[in-house]
Amino acid sequence: MPKTKHITVEAPSNIAFVKYWGKKGHQHPINPSISMTLKNCVTSCRIDYHESDNFSLNSYQFENKENPDFKDRIEKYLTSILDICPTLKTRALSIKTKNTFPHSAGIASSASAFASIAMAIAEIENANNKTQRASQLARLGSGSAARSIEGPYTLWGLTHNIHNSSDEHAITYNDTHKNFNTVNDTILLIDTAQKSVSSSAGHALMHAHPFKESRIQQANDNLNTILKAMNEGDWEKFGATIENEALTLHAMMMTSNPPAILLAPQTLDALDKIRQFRQDTKQPLYFTIDAGPNIHLIYPQTHAAKIDSFIKTDLAPLCKNGQTITDENGTGAKVIND
Ligand code: PMV
Repeated sequence: MPKTKHITVEAPSNIAFVKYWGKKGHQHPINPSISMTLKNCVTSCRIDYHESDNFSLNSYQFENKENPDFKDRIEKYLTSILDICPTLKTRALSIKTKNTFPHSAGIASSASAFASIAMAIAEIENANNKTQRASQLARLGSGSAARSIEGPYTLWGLTHNIHNSSDEHAITYNDTHKNFNTVNDTILLIDTAQKSVSSSAGHALMHAHPFKESRIQQANDNLNTILKAMNEGDWEKFGATIENEALTLHAMMMTSNPPAILLAPQTLDALDKIRQFRQDTKQPLYFTIDAGPNIHLIYPQTHAAKIDSFIKTDLAPLCKNGQTITDENGTGAKVIND
């Protein structure tokens, strides 16, 4: 019996400020995106592996239970990367993953899951540049997962004025003002049901979208605005731009064929309250939203006292069972020595 080794890795989810929406080629983005890596919403992944004549995924457990659906998806993913990961061609794997956040929370778990598996594979391969390799492999599982390997801010997609930017993998963006040192993300769980449109179906709808070219231009412009705002510490410009990105993502979905409306009435109520609060108090509280009804509230931790009490009294009641998740920027994936 060959000797079994194991590796355990933790990788977080991330929230995009400029949204990746639409693919080209081999899982490359049609526009560059930037995101904040989270700290507490994490997937931990343990891979037990041994040498074998062929590649096989012997089992996949999620939250300590065999999960045939996830096993199927991960098996397809691993089979699809065998040619670029020759080491895997002679390994038999058993994978276990667990999330620190509820699976049904309606927040992106594919980013943290694929980032953790990809990071573990980069370790098994003993790749030269492990973070870059992990980001590239994560991208092939779920595009946004490429941005979960490092932190606190990562940029994925070729962008002309950023040296080293690439469609293949994400890079960190470190040129930020101290106003962006610690940034909170409080997630309002408006609805925790499974999304009615998968992100792969959404990306595909961008191919024939009538606004595709102007969306690509806008995303590039918004990226430049956000990079400058983060560099200068300008929360007002940053906030206005992330809100524009979130609403544009939904506008793209509403105007695709077939259309999708993923915002819930409570989402719109919350957006109204956020705007009113900002107008009344001048507090730097801004929102972003992914492809679903839940809202990510983005604000500097230095302003948390006033903002958190507003969230509790005015916004939490709009959430399903009053549920919110509190998170902040983090540093990315790490290997756990166990
Ligand atoms: O990584 P995917 O294929 O699930 O796409 C994610 C797309 C958004 O979450 C809507 C935006 C983003 O950039 O994370």
